[in-house]
Amino acid sequence: MTADRIWVGELQGLLAAGRPITVIDVRSPSDVDWEIPGAIHVDAYGDLQSSRLGPLAELDLPVGPVVTVCEVGRTAAIATGLLRANGVEALTLDGGMHAWSLAWNTAQATISGCEIVQVRRTGKGCLSYIVESESEAVVIDASVDPDVYVRLLRDRGWRLVAVADTHIHADHLSRSKLLAQLEGAALWLPAQDRTQYSFRSVADGDRIAFGSTALVAMRTPGHTEESTTYLLDTTAAFTGDTLFLNGVGRPDLVDGTRNELVSRARLLHMSVSRLLELPEAAEVFPGHVSEPIPFDGRLLRTTVGTIRDTSALATLDEAAFVQNVLARIPPDPPNHLRIVELNERGEFPGDPSELEAGANHCAVA
Ligand SMILES: [Fe+2]
Repeated sequence: MTADRIWVGELQGLLAAGRPITVIDVRSPSDVDWEIPGAIHVDAYGDLQSSRLGPLAELDLPVGPVVTVCEVGRTAAIATGLLRANGVEALTLDGGMHAWSLAWNTAQATISGCEIVQVRRTGKGCLSYIVESESEAVVIDASVDPDVYVRLLRDRGWRLVAVADTHIHADHLSRSKLLAQLEGAALWLPAQDRTQYSFRSVADGDRIAFGSTALVAMRTPGHTEESTTYLLDTTAAFTGDTLFLNGVGRPDLVDGTRNELVSRARLLHMSVSRLLELPEAAEVFPGHVSEPIPFDGRLLRTTVGTIRDTSALATLDEAAFVQNVLARIPPDPPNHLRIVELNERGEFPGDPSELEAGANHCAVA
């Protein structure tokens, strides 16, 4: 932190500690596709460009520091300067929402005798998991800096034995290969011929053993051909981008004809139907959420029974499901073709924030 700037890690730490802090987002409403939990939106962009506070001058600010945020930190810095001239303890979030894309928080619970740590990219909605049994751990869908997982594992005295991805991601760069290398753990990916580096191949029914238990792979194609759910007994399902808390995966992020798109939507219907045959109490842990993730330590999860009871989309028959899914496809994730290419090659740029900034757009709801 300098006199008038705060870095992502510092703001993340203050929010995680529940410190009183007011985040003011000064982006134009049309530029807002994601936000910092609890942020106040003030449409002051035009005024700030003319060095005026505009509606910011009317705010009744609570006690404690104010953090201003915009896309990359330039307009927010103008707001900070003007607010400070008015005696407000203001700080600019360095790098703005682009940098915030990398922020994360955690939640933890015990399920079926295993500890589950949900590691959440609050700035993007990506969910990854550390699953532990008898001090051995597996990470699923690593999406934040590998050092974060290493620190979380060390703090708990756990040893990483495997890293597994549910599919080739299109919205973020997988950190799984890097993490597996860093810790000398096995890297498991669903069987496919897209990735251009070595990995251990997971087919339907394969087991990834750790501690006294195992994750069992259930092939759930549709979002992508290789999409795979990892089951912990029948009490938890790590569903990747196949089944979300209130929606299903999108089947369209691969080139193809309309007929191919329809056949992927049919596969997705079959996969979702298979998942909904799990016991009612089985917990669903998806690969993404479509809202900013609060710093509240509460796991984002639902149950198969809740989805059966409340999701109009997931429970439709095949024809209606296909029609509805294809009618509700969201905008493509930013840079998804480049991200897929890098994930297939197993390459990782020095600074991923430019490619990955923005909402994940993974779900059809
Ligand atoms: Fe995906």
